[in-house]
Amino acid sequence: MANKGKILVTGGTGYIGSHTAVELFNAGYEPVIIDNLSNSNIGVLDGIKAITGTLPTYENIDCKDYISLGHFMERHSDIKAIIHFAASKSVGESVEQPLVYYRNNIVSLINLLQLMPKFNINNIVFSSSCTVYGQPDVLPVTENSPIKPATSPYGSTKQMSETILRDASAADKNLNVVLLRYFNPIGAHPSAEIGELPNGIPNNLLPYLTQTVAGIRKTLKVFGNDYSTPDGSCIRDYINVVDLAKAHVCAIDRILEKKNKKNLEVFNLGTGKGVSVLEIINTFEKATGMKVPYEIAPRRTGDIEQVWADASHANKELGWKAEATLEETLLSAWKWQQKLQEREPKAE
Ligand code: WQD
Repeated sequence: MANKGKILVTGGTGYIGSHTAVELFNAGYEPVIIDNLSNSNIGVLDGIKAITGTLPTYENIDCKDYISLGHFMERHSDIKAIIHFAASKSVGESVEQPLVYYRNNIVSLINLLQLMPKFNINNIVFSSSCTVYGQPDVLPVTENSPIKPATSPYGSTKQMSETILRDASAADKNLNVVLLRYFNPIGAHPSAEIGELPNGIPNNLLPYLTQTVAGIRKTLKVFGNDYSTPDGSCIRDYINVVDLAKAHVCAIDRILEKKNKKNLEVFNLGTGKGVSVLEIINTFEKATGMKVPYEIAPRRTGDIEQVWADASHANKELGWKAEATLEETLLSAWKWQQKLQEREPKAE
C-alpha cells in the first residue's frame, strides 16, 4: 500500500502501541517507534515483523529526555502525526511512587508538545483512559460525563494530561488533538505474535486469569462478589486490543484528512457493553474449554463498582466500532499465554 506518511508511536513496544503499529502498517502508514523499554521488550519488534513483514524503525528514546527527543525529531522531520502511548500505567504502583508517575507521564507529554511546533508536527493522538471518569453516577458513560476527582496518581496524570492538551490546543489553533479514552483493553493479536507482556505479578484481570489457567498462579482471586451488580462482581467494558488499535488509525485518518470538527476531540473507546468478572470467567471457560481456578476474595481498594461506555460518538464520527466478540477476544488471550509458555516455560 502507498505510504500514507510517517507516524511517530511513542511507547510503541508496549501492549497497545505494538498492536497499533501493526494496524498503521495495515492501513498504509509508516509507524516509527520510540520506547525506553522501561516496561516492554524489544522482541516485540520481531512480533510486529512476523505479522506485517516489516521491521518497524525503532530507537531507544526516553520522552523525558528533551534533548534526545529533539534530536530524534530532527532526524524524522517528516513525521505527520504522533500517537503518544509512552507512560507508566499501573494504578497500584502510582500510589507507591506518585512523583515517578508525575515526572514520567507529565514531563514526557510537555516535552513532546514543546518540540512539535519546532518540527512542524501539528497532530497528536493521546492515550487516555476511562479512569478519568471515576465511578460515574449515570451509565453508560458519554464523553460529556463528569470528570470526577482522580482516585490514584495514575488517574491524576491522565486528567492532567488531558488538561494540558486542552490548553495547548486552545493556545495553538494549528495543533490538532484527539483524546482516546480507553475502557479495559484485553486480548492479543490473533496471530499470537504480540500480546500483553505484564512485568511481574499482573494487576489486571486477564493476564492474571490466563497465568492462573497456565499454572503460573495458584488461583484467581475475584475481588468481591457483594457489589450491587447482577452477580455481585464488578462490571467493566472489556475492549479487544486489535479493535482498540484500529480506532487509533481512524483518529489519525480523521486529522490528516482534516475531517476533525474541532482541534481537540474526545472519544470513548469501548464496546458499549458491561461485563462482570464472573461473566469473564464463565465466557473464558466456554471459549477455551479450560477451567479457571478461582476464589471469592475481599474487594480491592480503589475499585469502582461498574463502568461501561457509550461508544456512539466514536461510531458516528470515527466510523469505528468494536467488532470482536468476547469469546474471540478471550480465546486470543489464551492463545497468547500458550505462546508465551512455549517461549519461556518457566514460571516467574
Ligand atoms: C478489572 C476488574 C477488578 C484482577 C485498570 C486501570 C485502567 C486501565 C486498566 C491502564 C476489577 C477485577 C482484577 C484480579 C479481579 N489501566 N480483578 N481479580 O482496575 O478496571 O482498570 O486497568 O490504562 O486505567 O484503572 O482493570 O483488570 O485491574 O480489573 O477480580 O486478580 O477485575 O476488581 O473489577 P481496572 P483490572
